[in-house]
Amino acid sequence: MTISVIGYDGSPLPPVAGNRLAAASLVVGGARQLRAVGVPEGVPQIVMGDVSAALDAIAAAAGEGDGEGDGGDGGVVVVAGGDPGFFGIVRALRARGHALEVFPAISSVSGAFARAGLSWDDAVVVSAHGRELRRAVNVCRAHGKVAVLTGPGAGPAELGRALAPHTPRGFVVCEHLGEPAERVERCRPAEATTRTWRDPNVVLVLDERAAAAATGDDSGDATGDESGDGSSGGAAGGEGGVAGPRWVAGPGPGPAAWALPETAFEHRDSMVTKAEVRALALARLGPRLGDLIWDVGAGSGAVAIECARFGAAVIAIDRDEDACERIRRNVRTHHVRVAVSRGPAPAVLDHLPEPDAVFVGGGGPEVTRACADRALRCVVVALAAVERVAPTFDALAAAGFAAEAVQLQANRLAPLPGGAHRLAAANPVFVVWGSK
Ligand SMILES: C[S@@+](CC[C@H](N)C(=O)[O-])C[C@H]1O[C@@H](n2cnc3c(N)ncnc32)[C@H](O)[C@@H]1O
Repeated sequence: MTISVIGYDGSPLPPVAGNRLAAASLVVGGARQLRAVGVPEGVPQIVMGDVSAALDAIAAAAGEGDGEGDGGDGGVVVVAGGDPGFFGIVRALRARGHALEVFPAISSVSGAFARAGLSWDDAVVVSAHGRELRRAVNVCRAHGKVAVLTGPGAGPAELGRALAPHTPRGFVVCEHLGEPAERVERCRPAEATTRTWRDPNVVLVLDERAAAAATGDDSGDATGDESGDGSSGGAAGGEGGVAGPRWVAGPGPGPAAWALPETAFEHRDSMVTKAEVRALALARLGPRLGDLIWDVGAGSGAVAIECARFGAAVIAIDRDEDACERIRRNVRTHHVRVAVSRGPAPAVLDHLPEPDAVFVGGGGPEVTRACADRALRCVVVALAAVERVAPTFDALAAAGFAAEAVQLQANRLAPLPGGAHRLAAANPVFVVWGSK
């Protein structure tokens, strides 16, 4: 039996969907949607609270996919908010093997951007509904136009708490879209923490600097304020930074190249992680959308910037104010977002949010130990001193990481007069990493 799935956004149902509802033998849906669409009198209803119990009841009524519904003359109708094919019930119904006809309404995300008067093919949409909030927060840190589907314990206040005061954003909180109780409120993350919000809601998290394509950044100190011009040339391919018209919705296709040459970064006395070492470090760090990466002892910020180009949220940490200023300049040049935190590691790390992966370009074994205590997935350490390899390896292993190490030594082809080439040896570097 084909199940009819009807989306509801406050507008009258399309006539065919209305006919399915009128002929239904069972109607399943959220309490608000069932009330709003007006289920015909006498038709059995199931209010969708416990989704798996509702799916069992649907399967029983639909004849468990045997093509012979036992739900009477009419069919089974499922009513859901917005577009049921977008973070909605369609996925779970298909997973149970049901054949479906879907009548979508306008998604809450589409509705929210419409209320804000914004395009959204360049937006990143994240769901924190029944999922970890930190991934959504990291996407908001990394990108300038994000829609967050919220859930209990992961609403505007919690988002605001995670982003304020170091990530300058504007919130558009859209409650009860399409319902009589609809309310659309604009506020700052800090303000969102003290207000009362009603479910359901969608939060648009916007970097207004990106919209204005403004340059300039925040002062940046040990607190880790975001640096960048907000134009997001990273994987999200935001409002600026990516040449030409958009051809793909959501996060962009990612960088065309990585392990960029050292000349891509302003640096002091060649204090920049060399491209060959960066290539391995990036491969092990695996920076991606939803991640938070720390670059500890960031120097020029080359690793931090490359991680941001992959779409990750990034904090660059350095104790030296000149280095921090240099990182900010490099960040602006590359049109990415990176928070810069000035202060000595490991002390400065205590106040930072949990990283997925950490690159340690400077600092002793005590810094590696502190990073290993906090990193969720991976720590990568670049070392010049032979004596540091074993303590670093041991620190990672002791923290429960599977530790590995390699010595990298690149010989680059360098031109000689007369069209000949020689091998120009770069300094050997040890890369020690641990992953969980
Ligand atoms: C499981 S998702 C469903 C999304 C739905 N398929 C859609 O297209 O809107 C649930 C989340 O959608 C958002 N949502 C659903 N209906 C909403 C409404 N009427 N107003 C605002 N947000 C809504 C909320 O963030 C809610 O936590």
